[in-house]
Amino acid sequence: MNSVPIGVIGAGLIGRTHIDRALKQPGIELVGIADPSEEGRRMAQSVNVPWFADDDALIGSLKPRGVVIATPNATHAGIAVQCLQRGTAVLIEKPIADALDDAKRICDAAVAAKLPAMVGHQRRQNPIMQRAKQMVMAGKLGRPVCLTAMSTWLKPTEYFETTWRRSKGGGPILINLIHDIDQLRFLFGDIATVQAMTSNVIRGFEVEDTAVILLRFRNGALGTVTVSDTATAPWNWDLSAGEAERFPKQDVNSHFLSGTEGSLTLPRLDYWHYREGKGWHDELTEERTALHFGDPYAEQMRHFRAVIEGEEEPVCSADDAMRSLEATLAVAEAARSGKEIVLPE
Ligand SMILES: NC(=O)c1ccc[n+]([C@@H]2O[C@H](COP(=O)([O-])OP(=O)(O)OC[C@H]3O[C@@H](n4cnc5c(N)ncnc54)[C@H](O)[C@@H]3O)[C@@H](O)[C@H]2O)c1
Repeated sequence: MNSVPIGVIGAGLIGRTHIDRALKQPGIELVGIADPSEEGRRMAQSVNVPWFADDDALIGSLKPRGVVIATPNATHAGIAVQCLQRGTAVLIEKPIADALDDAKRICDAAVAAKLPAMVGHQRRQNPIMQRAKQMVMAGKLGRPVCLTAMSTWLKPTEYFETTWRRSKGGGPILINLIHDIDQLRFLFGDIATVQAMTSNVIRGFEVEDTAVILLRFRNGALGTVTVSDTATAPWNWDLSAGEAERFPKQDVNSHFLSGTEGSLTLPRLDYWHYREGKGWHDELTEERTALHFGDPYAEQMRHFRAVIEGEEEPVCSADDAMRSLEATLAVAEAARSGKEIVLPE
C-alpha cells in the first residue's frame, strides 16, 4: 500500500485525535504538524514529526498530499483555500466554515484545483449511522414521518476559557448542533424550512447555551432538535454513541426516527414495527441490532487516504457540508428573527 503523506494543522482538542489516528492508520504517514502554540510545538516533538508555525510553512516545506485542518472555525476557509491552491487535498473539521460565502470559496477552490475537499462530519462514518441509513433507504421505516434528536450535556467551565468558544460562531449551534443537522440530513435528506428559539440565560455569554429547533424536511417529515451545553443530561450523540474515548459512553438513545412502517432509535438501533396487525391496539415488536464497534475518526482517516488516492468519493464533500452549514446558520437566523427560514432548493 502506498504511503500517503499528510499534515495536521491545529493540534488542539480534536487535532490531537487526528494526529493519533494518522499515526495508527496504515497507508498514511504523518509528516508534520502546524500550530503556532507552545502546546502545538510540544505535540510535534512528542510524536517526532517536524513542527511549523502555520500551514504555509508546512506545505512549502513538506508538500503533503493532504492536510487535516483542525483550527478554530473562522480560520477554516483561509487555510483550506490556501492549501487547495497549493495542491493539497483537505479534510476540514466541521463546520466547513462559519459563513456561507467562506464555505463557497472552499468549494470553488476545490473545483479549480481538481482536488478533494472533505469535511469532518465523522458521525456519517460510524457503523451505526451506516446501518441506520441502509435501513431508511431500504424502506424499513416506510415513509419518513417525524424525528426527535437530543443534544444535551454539560460542558465544563474550563472549556470556556478559550475566547472563541464564548464569541459569535463558537456556541453549541455551530459546534454541536451542526453534527446533528448533518446526521439528520444524512438520514432524512435535505431540510426545507427551519424555526428556532435560543437562550443564553444560564451561561450569559454572547453565544447561546441552549436552543430548540423545528425542522421541515423536503420529503415532508417534521423534526425537533434540542441542544444545550449547560444541562446535566446524557442525551447527546457523543455520550450515547461513545465515539470518542474522551466521553464516557451512556447507555441511552438520543435520536428517534419514525416512519409509516416502523421506528428506529439511535445509537442503540432499536427497531419498532408491527409483525401482525397494524394499529395502536396491536402488539408492537422491538428488535435490537448490536453492531461491532467502529471508530469513526479512524474510519474517516482511512477514507481520507482512499479519497486522496481516487479510490472513494467523499462521504461528506465540501458541497454537502455547505448544505449542513446553511441549515445550521438558518437555525441562528430563525431564532434571531423569530421567523420561519426557507432554505434554497
Ligand atoms: N468532529 C469533532 O468531533 C470535533 C470535535 C471538537 C472540535 N471540532 C472542530 O475542530 C476545530 C478545532 O476545535 P478544537 O476544539 O480542537 O479547538 P482548540 O482551540 O482546542 O484547538 C485549535 C488549535 O488550532 C491552533 N491554531 C489556531 N490558529 C491556527 C492557525 N492559523 N494555524 C495552525 N494552528 C492554528 C491553536 O493554537 C489550537 O491549538 C473547530 O472547527 C471545531 O468545531 C470537531
